[in-house]
Amino acid sequence: MRYYKKVMNISKDLDFKVKDIDKEIYELNKLLSEKEEFQLDREYQKEILEKERKFLEDLKTVNEVFDKRTLMTLFSLLAGKHLTEYIGIVNSGKEAVVFKARKGKFYRAVKVYRVSTCDFKTMSKYIQGDPRFHLRKSSRRQIIHAWVEKEFRNLRRASEIINAPKARLRRENVLIMDFVGYRGIPAPKLKEFQDLDWERYYKIIRDSMKKLYEEGELVHGDLSEYNILVKDNEPVFIDFSQSVITQHPLAHPLLIRDCINICNFFRRKKVNCNYKELYKYITGNDINPVDEAMIKQL
Ligand SMILES: Nc1ncnc2c1ncn2[C@@H]1O[C@H](COP(=O)(O)OP(=O)(O)O)[C@@H](O)[C@H]1O
Ligand SMILES: [Mg+2]
Repeated sequence: MRYYKKVMNISKDLDFKVKDIDKEIYELNKLLSEKEEFQLDREYQKEILEKERKFLEDLKTVNEVFDKRTLMTLFSLLAGKHLTEYIGIVNSGKEAVVFKARKGKFYRAVKVYRVSTCDFKTMSKYIQGDPRFHLRKSSRRQIIHAWVEKEFRNLRRASEIINAPKARLRRENVLIMDFVGYRGIPAPKLKEFQDLDWERYYKIIRDSMKKLYEEGELVHGDLSEYNILVKDNEPVFIDFSQSVITQHPLAHPLLIRDCINICNFFRRKKVNCNYKELYKYITGNDINPVDEAMIKQL
């Protein structure tokens, strides 16, 4: 038991250092005799089973249903110590559920796509124009996996240049990212605020859109007051599921739509803005009428 405690402490410390996994295994092996290793496994297994049971019960109380494979994926994240526990649901949408979870002392947001209700026709349209992916004839599930992979990569790229949560891990239809909030309470959306320095927010958002386009070569594609959170007096962009790279055939129609949404919102807040000017500010070009006409088909 003495070793067991020591091991648990070491693994707790090392939990925070993802890169040190090899070292962790080495340390564990060094410390454990065969018998104690067996004990640790048993204890850990018991802990995981208890967490799985609690998680399933929580899902039942809020009437959330996932297919078996998704549940297995969610459990495997606990068993692999990518997450310590699932705490609750932040948002339950038509296509995805966002959980709050913990990894050690850090909070994480876990976005889980519902395999049965995803609009996979739209998904394939967005994936197909992206040179990073080659989808031939694919199953529903494969398309959703590619979709989550795309969101994961977009988020990685975006969070390097603008204020957006860092993507941590992607497994099948599940995406783990940093939690945007205060001690586990999710940060409010931009739309929920009455009084803000709207001019300042508009300028930051405008510059983030430009940086994303120029440096990240990405268009958010679903930008609005619903997909921007506010934390520490700064806007945080979330939900990069529809984002496309600037070479994508739908990139410019999507960017025009983003500009329209943002300007509509800020005009209501008495900020003087115009979507055509915003578009020009971001791209350096005037809007092509062909792109604008394509918005209806998005
Ligand atoms: N990283 C995060 N941190 C905190 N809350 C989040 C995070 N990601 C999403 N949320 C919450 O979950 C909601 C839905 O997430 P989102 O990615 O926008 O999915 P959807 O495609 O369902 O709109 C968001 O509006 C936000 O309230
Ligand atoms: Mg959203």
